[in-house]
Amino acid sequence: MWWLLVVLAPVAAALASKVPAVIVFGDSSVDTGNNNFIPTIARSNFWPYGRDYADGVPTGRFSNGRLATDFISEAFGLPPSIPAYLDANLSIHDLSTGVSFASAATGLDNATADVLRVIPIAQQLRYFKEYKQRLRVAMGESQSEEIIREALYIWSIGTNDFIENYYSQLSTRHGSVGEYEAYLLGLAEAAIGDVHALGGRKMDFTGLTPMGCLPAERVGNRGECNEEYNAVARSFNGKLQEMAGRLNKELHGLRLVYADTYNVLSAVVDTPADYGFENAVQGCCGTGLFEAGYFCSLSTSLLCPNANKYVFFDAIHPTEKMYKIIADTVMNTTLHVFL
Ligand SMILES: *[C@@H]1O[C@H](CO)[C@@H](O)[C@H](O)[C@H]1NC(C)=O
Ligand SMILES: *[C@@H]1O[C@H](CO)[C@@H](O)[C@H](O)[C@H]1NC(C)=O
Ligand SMILES: *[C@@H]1O[C@H](CO)[C@@H](O)[C@H](O)[C@H]1NC(C)=O
Repeated sequence: MWWLLVVLAPVAAALASKVPAVIVFGDSSVDTGNNNFIPTIARSNFWPYGRDYADGVPTGRFSNGRLATDFISEAFGLPPSIPAYLDANLSIHDLSTGVSFASAATGLDNATADVLRVIPIAQQLRYFKEYKQRLRVAMGESQSEEIIREALYIWSIGTNDFIENYYSQLSTRHGSVGEYEAYLLGLAEAAIGDVHALGGRKMDFTGLTPMGCLPAERVGNRGECNEEYNAVARSFNGKLQEMAGRLNKELHGLRLVYADTYNVLSAVVDTPADYGFENAVQGCCGTGLFEAGYFCSLSTSLLCPNANKYVFFDAIHPTEKMYKIIADTVMNTTLHVFL
């Protein structure tokens, strides 16, 4: 039956190269609602969040609509939104094409997660292990192993380690920013190694954005971007890229890519009108200068009428329109290798 092999081999290769699920770890940039189910104030499952989401439902995403990872899932031919792991109403079948373990306000450093009592990376990895086990029970060994092996793993984390932890007034961190950066990169490497050891192969570690240009960081800097923070983000991203190159040689079968979000956000903030935006310095909600989370629901009379004119929805997080631009750019420049 040699002909059967000839016919089937290309089909098998095509299936094997396809991404059957998008699996996400990280912070509020990719949390699709896990924090709704834990006792923390780092939440957004209330109006005006979700105002432009399907049926205007607030899901726990820190934006007016979908996140970049939702658009990425859709670009891979998967569902248009990625469910949150802790939503107990969802079955393992609902989660088999994608899941987010992310938690708003978390970081690579356990101490960052402790600030607002959210889910640290070690716990996100424990949930992933549990998820893998549940997939195996539901789908059997070979199908679940294939999902784990062929899935795309996306990491989006690190901003809070600097903003909420290292540079915070309350920080207990001593030492230079370079030392802290090295510490975080070590934690990132360990986390990537953990997912690899559990069978993951295709991974995207997203770089830091120009965090000094977040509306909340301009306050106290006369409305200008905090260039020290931006320099830290660029330095971290450079080292992340070096690390990716090294890990791709060291870890068997790993295909780790670095997704640049720094340059796309920085281009939009420099010339917002080129992208159809009118405001890149304030968030849509409240005064746009400091509000996020519950503060956004308090000052609703100031809410902007059209979030598509804003780069940021609150003082920290992008609008859906900005997330779509990030997703399209990352698909075109980086993640197309997994299509
Ligand atoms: C779960 O489903 C029940 C029944 O449909 C509903 O009342 C509840 O709000 C849902 N919970 C969540 C977190 O969606
Ligand atoms: C972070 O906390 C977890 C427990 O949740 C622990 O296993 C891990 O060793 C800690 N990591 C570091 C670097 O301290
Ligand atoms: C991505 O590529 C598509 C197809 O070439 C193009 O139409 C689109 O404008 C690109 N988007 C971005 C943001 O680069």
